[in-house]
Parts: sequence; C-alpha cells; structure tokens
Amino acid sequence: MEKPNSGLVEKTFLLIISICLICVVVEAEEFPAMFVIGDSLVDCGNNNFLRSFARSDFMPYGIDFYAGPTGRFSNGKTIIDFLGDLVGLPLLPPFEATITFGRDILKGVNYASAAAGILDESGRNLGDRFSLSQQVENFKSTLSQLKRKMDERKLEEFLGKSLVVMNLGSNDYINNYLIPSLYPNSSRYNSQDYADLLINHYAIHITVLHNLGLRKFLLAAVGPLGCLPNQIATGVAPPGKCVAFINDMVEVFNKKLISLVDQLNANHTKPSTFVYGNTYGVFTDILNRPDDYGFSETDKGCCGIGKNRGQITCLPFAMPCFNRDQYIFWDAYHPTQAFNQIVAQRAYTGGLSDCYPMNVKQMAQV
Ligand SMILES: *[C@@H]1O[C@H](CO)[C@@H](O)[C@H](O)[C@H]1NC(C)=O
Ligand SMILES: *[C@@H]1O[C@H](CO)[C@@H](O)[C@H](O)[C@H]1NC(C)=O
Repeated sequence: MEKPNSGLVEKTFLLIISICLICVVVEAEEFPAMFVIGDSLVDCGNNNFLRSFARSDFMPYGIDFYAGPTGRFSNGKTIIDFLGDLVGLPLLPPFEATITFGRDILKGVNYASAAAGILDESGRNLGDRFSLSQQVENFKSTLSQLKRKMDERKLEEFLGKSLVVMNLGSNDYINNYLIPSLYPNSSRYNSQDYADLLINHYAIHITVLHNLGLRKFLLAAVGPLGCLPNQIATGVAPPGKCVAFINDMVEVFNKKLISLVDQLNANHTKPSTFVYGNTYGVFTDILNRPDDYGFSETDKGCCGIGKNRGQITCLPFAMPCFNRDQYIFWDAYHPTQAFNQIVAQRAYTGGLSDCYPMNVKQMAQV
C-alpha cells in the first residue's frame, strides 16, 4: 500500500514542479507592456480631451462596459482590451490620462485617437485629433517619463519586449480619400499611388518608433470599409452587398502593408519583429459565415439612424438594439465587442492567414 502511494506522491510532486517551471518560462515570455497607436477602433478615451465630433464619452457607448462610456467606440471592450486580457495586461490608460491624472505608464499607454489617420490631414473634417505623427510625439513624452523610472539597460529591455499595436488607415480613406469635395488628393492620386503615399508615411513613423527602442510591432490591416453600415447606406452597392470599389481600394493598401512587413523583417534582425494582423481577412470570414460565429445582423448598426442604421451614427442617449451580441456592427462605423473578442483571439493564436508571419502569442517568445 505504501509504495504505490509514495510513488504517486512523488509523481504529483514532479508534476507540480514541472507545471511551476512552465509557469516561470511562460512568465518570462510575456510582454511587460503594450503601446497602442491608432484610430477610433482602438481609442480608449484620448478624444474625450479634444474638440472633436469623433467622441463617444456618452451613453449608450459603453453600455456593456463595467465603467460605462469611456471614449471607447464600442458597446463594451475594444480589440485592445481583449488582447490585453489574453497577454495578461490590465486595461491601458489613454495617453491624455497619463498626463492629466498621472495614470501609471508601466504596463503601457494607449495613444489612439478617433478620426486619426496616417496622414496628418485625414479626419480634420471631424475636428481635433492626434494624428500618427502627433501620437509618435506623445510616445516620446512617455519615453522621457520612463527614463526617470528605470536605468538605461532596464529601459532597453522593457521597450524591446513590449508589444506595439498600430491600427491606422481607415480614416485616410473614409475621412480623406473618399471625400473628394474636402480632400483634393482623391483626384491627384489613383488608388495605387495613394496607398504608396500612405505606406511611405507609415514606414517613416514605424522606423522612428523602432529607432526609439521598440521592437515588436503588430500592424493591423484596414478592414473591409465598403461593408460598414455607413458606406452601405450610401446606396451605391447592390442590395445585400458591400461597396466593392472601396474594398478593392483597401485591399491595395493591405497588400502594400504586407510588403512593408516583409521589408521591415528583412531589414531588421531579431528580436525585431513586424507582424501583419489580417483584420480584413477575419472580418471577411465572419461576414461570409456569420451564423458560425453567432451573428444574425451583418449590415446594420445596433445604434444609429436611417438606412441600415448607418446614415447617422449613434448619438447621445439613442436607443441601441437589445441583442447586441448578435450584431457585427455597434454603430455606423465600429464593430461590437462580440466581434472584437473574436478578432483579438485570432490575433493571439490564429494561423498564418490571420497573423503573418506569426501570431501575437509567438511574438512574445521571439
Ligand atoms: C496630399 O498629398 C500630399 C503629397 O503629395 C501630402 O503631403 C498631403 O498630406 C496630402 N493632403 C491631404 C489632404 O491628404
Ligand atoms: C529596407 O532596406 C532597403 C535597403 O537598405 C531600403 O532601401 C528600404 O527603404 C528599407 N525599408 C524599410 C521599410 O526599412
């Protein structure tokens, strides 16, 4: 009786030891922090501080979020919030709150600003915003704060292991190229040349961030903008279809973004890692077989007014739909948290078609 029992105890003991070793290894491979550069899809409250029409710090935004309306453009969490859960990081503070209220910066900062684009001018029709170049300046300001908190060697390691997520480009189309009356470049550039213009600007700023010490970049694709309730509401697409010419235009940009990722990976040695997050592909997949994901409403906003509830986006105290988890779109432009959760999970553990050339979980181990 005693022998097998003690064997069992030993085995259990060994098992516990090895689980603990695995824990330690996993621990060492986590991202110490996350820094987010982007637009309204990932903003968590920076625009609350700005004079802008692109704000969401009012009900019913955040109706399913524990803190209510915070400036997230969702009924609940954003992709970044879910990604943070997956990599074991807390909700990030918006940059403005780190400046104004001294919120902690040691787990990362979110610089994203609704209406922001890769080009400085994009989104100016909506008021103030932190464009890409301003967001990079804001990161520099965080960096000088970090320098006061850790020595040079520690800071280098911290930045090198941190995850950078960049999500931009939508506003360079929706709030620039696709409004020719306000933005003359639409007639000056064809979609190939315009995508080149965007990618060249993007590359310059990514390189600046890399030179400042950041190493692990997740660069998100632009989604199928022609499928947004707002674009469908324009009525130029056949019933039940997305606006094809807009999606084609976005795909031109995304293809060039993949080439940029390849170039950056070729030019910089490990542990520098650049990853393409194929939100376009995931979006299209979900739109093609919504039932498999539990969605019944694919082309209208849960909160909004007019055709497809997308002509006018969600306004203060508007009444949203009740079955929010069955909607892909929360308002005229932004997805629900049910959708965001799927995208975050696929960025974290998805295959090559979701995240190229590796997923976020693998990025942590580089
Ligand atoms: C138009 O293109 C030029 C480059 O030729 C660029 O510098 C400028 O930012 C663009 N303007 C707008 C409004 O996007
Ligand atoms: C990669 O390196 C080549 C050759 O030095 C250079 O021409 C190109 O601009 C670089 N690209 C990026 C995105 O760093």
